[in-house]
Amino acid sequence: MKHSNKFLISSIAILSLSGIGSSTVTEAASNSQGTNSQSEKTSVQTADDNSKQEQQNWIHNLTGEKFTTIAHRGASGYAPEHTFYSYDKSHNAIGASYIEVDLQMTKDGHLVAMHDETVDRTTNGTGRVDQYTLEELKQLDAGSKFNEQNPQYANSNYEGAQIPTLDEILERYGTDANYYIETKSPDVYPGMEEKLLDTLNKHQLLNEQSLKKGHVMVQSFSQESLLKMKNLNSNVPLIRLLDKGELPNMTQQDFNYIKQYAIGVGPEYTDLTKENVTNLKNTGFLVHPFTVNEVADMERLNEYGVDGLFTNYPDLYKQVVNEQ
Ligand code: G3P
Ligand code: CA
Repeated sequence: MKHSNKFLISSIAILSLSGIGSSTVTEAASNSQGTNSQSEKTSVQTADDNSKQEQQNWIHNLTGEKFTTIAHRGASGYAPEHTFYSYDKSHNAIGASYIEVDLQMTKDGHLVAMHDETVDRTTNGTGRVDQYTLEELKQLDAGSKFNEQNPQYANSNYEGAQIPTLDEILERYGTDANYYIETKSPDVYPGMEEKLLDTLNKHQLLNEQSLKKGHVMVQSFSQESLLKMKNLNSNVPLIRLLDKGELPNMTQQDFNYIKQYAIGVGPEYTDLTKENVTNLKNTGFLVHPFTVNEVADMERLNEYGVDGLFTNYPDLYKQVVNEQ
């Protein structure tokens, strides 16, 4: 190509010096440029067609949404995390797609919604969750600290808010709601996965229709816990969470392995690029990054091709989705 252009340019120079046929040669040059840009157009089109073809094979949210809104610890930007206040806000007031629930287990074997292994950050108590019976845990106030730390959203109703059990959550929101449940610290709580399945089963959330529609997703940073879930019930959709910095260091082989047990991945959102999201989608994953609280990040991630995200402000993401 380079050679033929060189030949053309020197021919133009010679011919214009001699004053012969300049218009014809100019036409030839412009025709040749036309041919080049035509072939460039064709290759761009082929790449577009390929990427459209790949996109047609991408997996979508089981809920049927293009972008799913996962209320992180409930609408925890506005109300105390993992209380009925933050869940009511996300589910009833905002209409987020999923209530996200982190699980810990009490001394007497009850699954409760709590992010940390200790109660210190979010309640007026101290110590490890597994050192409390459910009755003792229920005495704690899981609302007042939120009021102190978030005066702009403080509400006296939150004072004395109780830590809910998984059983109570499923009872309250029922079989039409969607739950995105994380097995936290599964190594600390042997039997957590069995108990989770028993509780889901008790609330009719493990039947084929329910699972197909995505009413339950189980997520974990622990591959061991997810493999155990897979082994206990291979129908439950699983999401492998990826801590900050994990994704950029993973190989395609790692992704292929995860694909054998998980329907998707939940990467820390600052690790995502257009390229790695495309690759994760082409590998066959749902991609649900956490925890995205800024509108500009939500918009950018949607453009990358994620399937939804975890956020403390589900109303903001719903707005972004509606506008896009
Ligand atoms: O589960 C997704 C996201 O919540 C993971 O981070 O620490 O908030 O549970 P974390
Ligand atoms: Ca979580």
